[in-house]
Amino acid sequence: MALSTKPYKGTRDFFPEDMYLHRHIFQRLSEVIEGYGYQPYDGPMLEPFELYAAKSGQEIVEKQLYWFMDRGERKVAMRPEMTPTLARMVASRVMELPKPVRWYSIPNLWRYERPQRGRLREHWQLNVDILGGESLWADAEILRVAYSIIAAFEGQKNIKIFVNNRRLINSVFKDQLKLSAEDALKASKAVDARDKIGEEAYNKQLVEIGLSAEQIATMEDFFNSSLESAQSKFQCEGLDELTSLFKILENHPVSQVLEFNPKVMRGLDYYTGTVFEVFDVSPENNRAMFGGGRYDNLIGMFGNQTLSGVGFGMGDVTLKNFLETHKLLPDVASHIDVFFVTGNEDAIAKAAELAEPLIAAGIKTSLSLSTAKFNAQLKQANKLNAKLAIILGENELKENSATVKNLSTGEQNTLSMPINLDELKKMI
Ligand code: HAM
Repeated sequence: MALSTKPYKGTRDFFPEDMYLHRHIFQRLSEVIEGYGYQPYDGPMLEPFELYAAKSGQEIVEKQLYWFMDRGERKVAMRPEMTPTLARMVASRVMELPKPVRWYSIPNLWRYERPQRGRLREHWQLNVDILGGESLWADAEILRVAYSIIAAFEGQKNIKIFVNNRRLINSVFKDQLKLSAEDALKASKAVDARDKIGEEAYNKQLVEIGLSAEQIATMEDFFNSSLESAQSKFQCEGLDELTSLFKILENHPVSQVLEFNPKVMRGLDYYTGTVFEVFDVSPENNRAMFGGGRYDNLIGMFGNQTLSGVGFGMGDVTLKNFLETHKLLPDVASHIDVFFVTGNEDAIAKAAELAEPLIAAGIKTSLSLSTAKFNAQLKQANKLNAKLAIILGENELKENSATVKNLSTGEQNTLSMPINLDELKKMI
């Protein structure tokens, strides 16, 4: 039986048109982020299993991790997220790196998920993190960057950034509801999954954890709080942090899309302070596009060092859905400048020779490599979105010239040899 041409479930082939778009989007993102002084980094796609087992949380490790035993009996995982690799790399040079460390990366990540809109098994994720910036100014900077990358695609009117704080959630769950750490974690997972599983299953989960009607009511009261109303009922360090964060950002355009949302939990276990999620506000794509937060203890996995970090991860799938929904996808149709059309083998040889100085001068040049009818070759040139065709037929070879055809206007001229690059560039 013939093999399937389909890619592995939940992964994508990137054909040239997809690749142009992908590359364009991430180049634009990189420019914006480097504008804020962030430096690029990358790491291996394979990491020791334990790197995720320690901190990423049950859902990723038990349900989503791709892992295997290598030939040396080591348990190896394909990276499901970048933050543990970042922590490992920063920990390995923690003494010499100038603080704060501002790094970004665009790794491909693997999660065994049920493929659906916005969720695949392999995705590319922009990661932007700042480590060693202990103050809320770092959290504020990360939110400014998150806003700016969306603004770079003119999408800022279509988002909301919902912000919460893990210290506040912990305080409500532990101090007000008197939940144990274990039950608090379970309750936060139920809240995180609430939209996905529906009200009935959500309430059932809370009852299973052992929450009383009164506790559930207090929780609901918290979830319906504004920042102001929370201040009178749930005073704690986390709430003070949130209040200061909103104050720091009040004059930045991000403040127009920033909103306190006590329901934002974030799935990963390592967040300790600010957590946020960027939402697409359109009804057809109303879901979290990306998110992040502050993590205080990740570097500590590798020794005695402590270095707090804050950052976010944004997937290419959700970003492209967002840009598509709002008709903000950049037009990145590929093109070439010059396509050589050739009448016989000698003409192919001549075209190959003539092409080199053009390519060296930055003119995108391609050869038909064929001696098929001119019309067939010109069709190929049009398919490739070529601007000019340079035709080398028998006559042209004899007269040591070429015919140049503008493929959008149809205008034809004779080009004398050797090709004058300035003259040619004017025609493109
Ligand atoms: P996360 O919420 O697991 O966080 O993922 C961040 C974003 O990556 C998601 O909001 C989504 O855009 C994208 N994403 C995640 N899983 C998939 C998937 N299966 N298919 C498509 N897109 C996906 C993290 O991974 C944190 N490490 C982010 C972070 C960086 N926090 C601090 N620094």
